[in-house]
Amino acid sequence: MEYRTLGRTGLRVSVIGLGTMVHAGHFGPMKDEESLSAIDAALELGVNFIDTSDAYGAGYSETLLGKALKGRRDKVILATKGGNVMVGPNRGKRNFAVDYIGRVMEESLKRLQTDTIDLYQLHNPNVDVIRSGEIWELLERRKKEGKIRHYGVSINTTEEGVAAIEGGRSDTIQIEYNLLDQEAAEEVFPLARKANIGVIVRVPLRRSLLTGKLKPEDQQQFHGEDVRARNFAGEVFKRELAKVERLRFLEKPGRSLAQAALAFCAVHPAVSIVIAGARDGRQMRENAAAADVRLSADELQRAKELWRNEFNA
Ligand SMILES: NC(=O)c1ccc[n+]([C@@H]2O[C@H](COP(=O)([O-])OP(=O)(O)OC[C@H]3O[C@@H](n4cnc5c(N)ncnc54)[C@H](OP(=O)(O)O)[C@@H]3O)[C@@H](O)[C@H]2O)c1
Repeated sequence: MEYRTLGRTGLRVSVIGLGTMVHAGHFGPMKDEESLSAIDAALELGVNFIDTSDAYGAGYSETLLGKALKGRRDKVILATKGGNVMVGPNRGKRNFAVDYIGRVMEESLKRLQTDTIDLYQLHNPNVDVIRSGEIWELLERRKKEGKIRHYGVSINTTEEGVAAIEGGRSDTIQIEYNLLDQEAAEEVFPLARKANIGVIVRVPLRRSLLTGKLKPEDQQQFHGEDVRARNFAGEVFKRELAKVERLRFLEKPGRSLAQAALAFCAVHPAVSIVIAGARDGRQMRENAAAADVRLSADELQRAKELWRNEFNA
């Protein structure tokens, strides 16, 4: 496993991490044994960064992680998030009020069965929240109290990324970046690199599309809490599948498309860690092995040109 420094946090993180959204059933039904086999495989292979959120299964993923890491908490850099309301009348809304974040952080600590969270991230704050001073003061106080070690943001847009970097308060940025969505490399990555802000790449497999295993008929299985019901509704899914076919040149004997997709993210010099979701131990093993995969200069060039000239046109 290769390790990199996560920006100014100084944390040494494995270049491949584990995302645990899938463990809460957001990619269809899950069994805890599968989730636990993914976590076990991660630790066995030197994957030392696990990302979760209080929103995944309304705390389910955090609770599972808390149990799974009992007796081995020190092996993992644990990142979670708060700000998405998942229970009660405001379900589905965002809340970054100081008292709300203060309270849900305590709940995350309990579910994770830990005294300190290594990285606490605001979960999808907009530019106004990022620019407000109050929430950062709370995070700084919690850091001084030892409840969190570092803090950052998980964001959706370039504008939010730029605001977080220019604001100077966020230690890290978590953002989507993959072969089908390379926008983060345009503006956010160069700025983050210059400011020594750690970059965490999320959704590197575009929610399993970039494994190349999905077929048009799979769309029928995306319903309920499956994030793909919303992301890949209607004609979008067919269009995304057609783009994946154009990327098959990255697949080779001994190198799966998923591994090439993860290697593509990892090669960017601003990126410290690529967090792919892994449903089970098998997926975790395949993803961890991507740390050793190198794409050729020609392959990289072709993948970038495809996005710029065709996918993003
Ligand atoms: N706003 C936010 O903060 C936010 C948003 C999204 C994600 N995230 C974080 O980023 C992490 C990663 O994103 P993601 O989980 O949404 O998407 P992803 O990593 O692009 O895709 C993960 C899915 O791909 C499939 N997969 C993974 N490895 C595979 C392999 N080797 N072979 C075959 N299939 C494989 C699995 O689903 P199937 O087995 O069902 O195909 C898995 O759940 C999340 O877990 C979460 O921690 C954060």
